[in-house]
Amino acid sequence: MAAKRFNASVFIFVFLFGTQAAILEALKLFDAPLAPVFIFGDSTFDVGTNNFLLVRQDIKANFPYYGIDYPYADPTGRFSNGYNTADQIVRLLGYRRSPPAFFSLVNHTSSFKKKILQGVNFASGGSGILDNTGSEFNNTMSLGNQIKLFETVHSNIAELRGPEETATMLSKSLFLISVGSNDIFDYLRYNIGSTSWPEFLTAMQSTYSNHLKSLYDLGARKFGIIGVPPIGCCPLQRTANATGGCFEVANEFARSFYIATEALLKQMSLELPGMIYSLGNLYEMTMIVIEEQYAFGIKNIEKPCCGDALVQCNQNASLCPNRDEYLFWDWVHPTQLASKLAALSLYGGSTRFVTPMNFSRLAEV
Ligand SMILES: *[C@@H]1O[C@H](CO)[C@@H](O)[C@H](O)[C@H]1NC(C)=O
Ligand SMILES: *[C@@H]1O[C@H](CO)[C@@H](O)[C@H](O)[C@H]1NC(C)=O
Ligand SMILES: *[C@@H]1O[C@H](CO)[C@@H](O)[C@H](O)[C@H]1NC(C)=O
Ligand SMILES: *[C@@H]1O[C@H](CO)[C@@H](O)[C@H](O)[C@H]1NC(C)=O
Ligand SMILES: *[C@@H]1O[C@H](CO)[C@@H](O)[C@H](O)[C@H]1NC(C)=O
Repeated sequence: MAAKRFNASVFIFVFLFGTQAAILEALKLFDAPLAPVFIFGDSTFDVGTNNFLLVRQDIKANFPYYGIDYPYADPTGRFSNGYNTADQIVRLLGYRRSPPAFFSLVNHTSSFKKKILQGVNFASGGSGILDNTGSEFNNTMSLGNQIKLFETVHSNIAELRGPEETATMLSKSLFLISVGSNDIFDYLRYNIGSTSWPEFLTAMQSTYSNHLKSLYDLGARKFGIIGVPPIGCCPLQRTANATGGCFEVANEFARSFYIATEALLKQMSLELPGMIYSLGNLYEMTMIVIEEQYAFGIKNIEKPCCGDALVQCNQNASLCPNRDEYLFWDWVHPTQLASKLAALSLYGGSTRFVTPMNFSRLAEV
């Protein structure tokens, strides 16, 4: 009798709790919260960081016609007519919203800790890998300083969730980084006479390596990294070419930056256990759009839609009626459409565009 009752209660125990565990598992599958995404870099990814900094006006984008195709035509600080590349990538990955700028969260102490669990964007227009890149703009947030801000976010998460859960969560998080163009622009402006390019590139790569290592030490494992686009083809740089063609010197630097970054990431992933990455070849993707513009419905690949090659977009500047027919939104930045094309290649592209795996694979593994 006693034995029977024992068996029955074991049965009931297993039935109840076994089922409950299974239901919990099933719920997790259907409503698994995606791990937070952390975003670093320059104006290609900035979603409003520079609005909070005392930087020069021409590396801000919180005034019309910026954002004209964003919901409510809101000039959020994105260097685009609408969504930028960071927004487009996270949307393709299934996130409901793009992580907000760190500074837009930091003063809301009550919601800060909850919101950082949904990801944070630290990217700052005009910044670079090297600390003094963009210093002519006064006070942009360099990649190094962005990582210092991430350190504070990291300790906040650790306070909230404990060190172990934090480590697990961050190991699943994507760390998206798009940086390097401004270092090359500054090299062309200030250092080209005094430092050789190989020497400068080596300095850039060793600093980049230190920054990535800092993120790894804080728990980052999955890196989604984007190379430098053909910056010599942006309207501003084309003015350095008398024929109006792309400024080849800048493009050559962009290509060698990609090659060096690929070697660096390969090496680091061999040395650092658990580190995986995707490296997007934004140079190649953009060149294809330039060479095959009509296949993408793009009528103008040389001139910006808003402003011109030497005038930043603002509400007194000229504005093209159909933004989707332009590659460039302003003197240096792509249109929302061009960002979308890049994000699609990063998300689902083959190794020609993103190596050794695409971003959707990186998010899954
Ligand atoms: C946050 O609040 C402090 C104190 O009120 C203020 O000085 C600072 O400018 C604010 N920072 C941002 C980014 O809004
Ligand atoms: C440069 O930044 C400092 C603070 O870091 C600020 O006091 C100054 O007004 C800024 N200058 C310009 C021209 O924006
Ligand atoms: C200018 O553009 C042309 C192509 O249109 C190219 O052949 C030439 O090398 C470029 N010159 C410079 C200085 O970049
Ligand atoms: C646009 O033009 C008006 C009138 O000339 C001027 O008051 C205003 O400051 C200009 N705005 C910008 C952003 O240049
Ligand atoms: C991403 O890469 C994988 C293989 O690496 C491939 O099977 C897949 O089709 C690519 N695109 C997407 C959206 O997953």
